[in-house]
Amino acid sequence: MSTWIEQEGRDLKFPAYVWQAPVRVWHWVMALAMIVLWVTGYFIGSPLPSVPGEAIENYLMGYIRFAHFAAGYVFAIAFLGRVYWAIVGNKHAREIFLVPLSMLNPSWWRAFFRVVGHYVFIRPKNDWHYGHNQLAMAAMFFMYVLGSLFMIVTGFALYGEGLGMESWAFRWFSSWVLPLLGYSQAVHTWHHLCAWYLFWFTLVHLYFVIREDIVSGLTVVSSMISGWRDRKN
Ligand code: HEM
Ligand code: HEM
Repeated sequence: MSTWIEQEGRDLKFPAYVWQAPVRVWHWVMALAMIVLWVTGYFIGSPLPSVPGEAIENYLMGYIRFAHFAAGYVFAIAFLGRVYWAIVGNKHAREIFLVPLSMLNPSWWRAFFRVVGHYVFIRPKNDWHYGHNQLAMAAMFFMYVLGSLFMIVTGFALYGEGLGMESWAFRWFSSWVLPLLGYSQAVHTWHHLCAWYLFWFTLVHLYFVIREDIVSGLTVVSSMISGWRDRKN
């Protein structure tokens, strides 16, 4: 029997250990880095009109850009660590990366439409899942994983412009990303647009984790803190 069919239904055994420590640590470190990236990125895109005092006494934009680049490194290294853990960790650590492969299995789609049926209020109760449900998995892959990869590639392409043509960032990223996307201004615009794309993903993510916590009968928010999924009654 396929794993997706096994995971449908409401007769799963709880408590179940789902999110291993590296996944949890990555989730919260990445979320904090992303908040810094949004706030500092916002000011890079829409700088303050003026700052008081002599120009030589001000380094505000410099600090903002430094914080953005430092958080950018944290975000990118955490992403690489998360990819490594998808390889060596438990099967739930792989869920958000293997979506295109999972989609080849017709039972994945059956489970997917059952979840969608619940969210559009056709099925009163959602299926239980140890890890993500199929809709969450698809959103995590197509919005979060691909979106983050795009931010890292375009971010380091912009960073390489600042470091100069001899830098590693220019050679690895700027050299092909800039011509591909239409040079500096276009890369800025795409990087900026994708920042909003990830922002909307996160708002919807928060809505769903809190909603599921309330209506599913399982622990959801606390599972990303303790690692355990359990029944609430
Ligand atoms: C989710 C992750 C990220 C978000 C939300 C984000 C957001 C932003 C935003 C909104 C801008 C302003 C774009 C504009 O309007 O010109 C920006 C610029 C920039 N970002 Fe990011 N960014 C992210 C990841 C990264 C990463 C990983 C790096 C790599 C170091 C990076 C490096 C840069 C650079 C170099 C600039 C241009 C700075 C300048 O022109 O002064 N970003 N970012
Ligand atoms: C920038 C903010 C955030 C981003 C980008 C984000 C992104 C993600 C991603 C990509 C996953 C999948 C984890 C995996 O399978 O490896 C996830 C899971 C999860 N996140 Fe977030 N997250 C953010 C903030 C939050 C916050 C503030 C909460 C708590 C209210 C939260 C609660 C959860 C929970 C509970 C899960 C597991 C869902 C489940 O059990 O099915 N996240 N998040």
